[in-house]
Amino acid sequence: MKKLYDALSEYAESDVYPFHMPGHKRNLEICRMGEPYRMDITEIDGFDNLHDAKGILKNAMDTASHMYDAQETFFLVNGSSSGILSAVLACTKEGDEILIARNCHKSAYHALYLGNLIPHYLYPEEKNGISMEISPEDVEAALKQYPKVRAVVIVSPTYEGIVSDIQRIAKLAHKYGCPLIVDEAHGAHFGFAKGFPETAVRLGADLVIQSVHKTLPSFTQTALLHIGKQEQNSWIDRERLCRFLSIFQTSSPSYLLMAGIEKSLELVEKEGKFLFPQLLEKIGIFRQRTKNLKYLSIPEFAHADPSKLVIFPDRNSGKNGHWLYRELLDRYHLQMEMESMEYVLAMTSIADTKEGFERLAEALEEIDQTLETEKENLKETKEREKKEREGNEKKKDSGSVFDRMQEMKKLTAVVTIRQALDSQKKSCPLKEAEGLISADYIYLYPPGIPLIVPGEQFTKELIFILEKERKAGLEVKGVSEKEMVFVI
Ligand SMILES: Cc1ncc(COP(=O)(O)O)c(C=O)c1O
Repeated sequence: MKKLYDALSEYAESDVYPFHMPGHKRNLEICRMGEPYRMDITEIDGFDNLHDAKGILKNAMDTASHMYDAQETFFLVNGSSSGILSAVLACTKEGDEILIARNCHKSAYHALYLGNLIPHYLYPEEKNGISMEISPEDVEAALKQYPKVRAVVIVSPTYEGIVSDIQRIAKLAHKYGCPLIVDEAHGAHFGFAKGFPETAVRLGADLVIQSVHKTLPSFTQTALLHIGKQEQNSWIDRERLCRFLSIFQTSSPSYLLMAGIEKSLELVEKEGKFLFPQLLEKIGIFRQRTKNLKYLSIPEFAHADPSKLVIFPDRNSGKNGHWLYRELLDRYHLQMEMESMEYVLAMTSIADTKEGFERLAEALEEIDQTLETEKENLKETKEREKKEREGNEKKKDSGSVFDRMQEMKKLTAVVTIRQALDSQKKSCPLKEAEGLISADYIYLYPPGIPLIVPGEQFTKELIFILEKERKAGLEVKGVSEKEMVFVI
């Protein structure tokens, strides 16, 4: 086995192009930081203290807060995960009820576990396997139905860039006496330029968490937690929030990571007015070039971050997202951010180069051509095509991931996540799990959204979907190689 450092050096020297995070894309023209070892320190005299900032760090955080129009901003060195844990636990007490979008990241579920919270889920509509917006009407209905809810948590944008109506949802949360926490992990670049969505911080959310490392040129693990400016800011107990931040963050924060956040925001402030329009221009050229592909489509969603490119192989080509992901990596050395049954996701940022976009467009054109040739070679009769189409329609009805969310709605929580995870668990074949209570999360990573959470009962439909995803070659976490799952 190679040594980690050697593998990293080799990767850095390779021709693999990153359509994945971190948002700096290893682009040294954009990331202007000197020699890391000469600057790697933690808290020493003159360098302030992240857990009680008063000097140089406070100043850097105030600058960030000013840029996003927040009331206060905290630097995070343990990713958005640490911010989400802190935010949820700061807004709730042990055993409280909480309204939470089902497509939240696993860190939000970890907060449910730690707080032994009782979740009521908001289910986004799904289209072609993508979670769409959270509907404000659903938020209001749930808040009416569950008057004991203490906080609302949603993810916006989603992994694929879909943005919800934060302004309306924030107003509703406040009307029913709760704060709104927005996981904006994929939106640290929002609100700086025309053509990109506004940040939740300016739309009335109370706590907003952003991974700087995902979409801006900053080191992995770097993130921000903002307290929104509210007229009456009674929703957030600042002291409690700070307590959780110091529980979930290291006591030896890396000053390189924090300086990286500052540098990245400085770049946005000074050069964002050129860099963001340039990114949009590159995306525009890419879209123009790929819009007539026959077997691949890259839809533009109505309320979404334009920097996310979601690429679907046509169902009738007989190919899926996993196939496209492997093809792009193995043949073209283009590393995507994620794959699902239906699509692959390319993440772009201001650090992407014109050459990177050209390589992706060229690869997709070639793949499209290959699919065309394959189709011609098959010399199918019209009759056979018709049958195929009918087959596909049937498949769509019985097993597309579109069904996944619909079925997930029907999952019943029998005990809390805490009770399930702390129970004695046993292993059981997936195919025999119907009616049993899950003792674990089962999810595809990325994106890490649980298909079943501990405490919920397996249904026949969920088992069918999990088996199908495994057969398609996707990595389903929580189901072992031998198709076993944990139940209580
Ligand atoms: C929607 C969402 N929220 C939160 C996180 C956690 O972010 P981090 O990796 O910065 O801890 C992720 C990570 O992929 C994510 O996709």
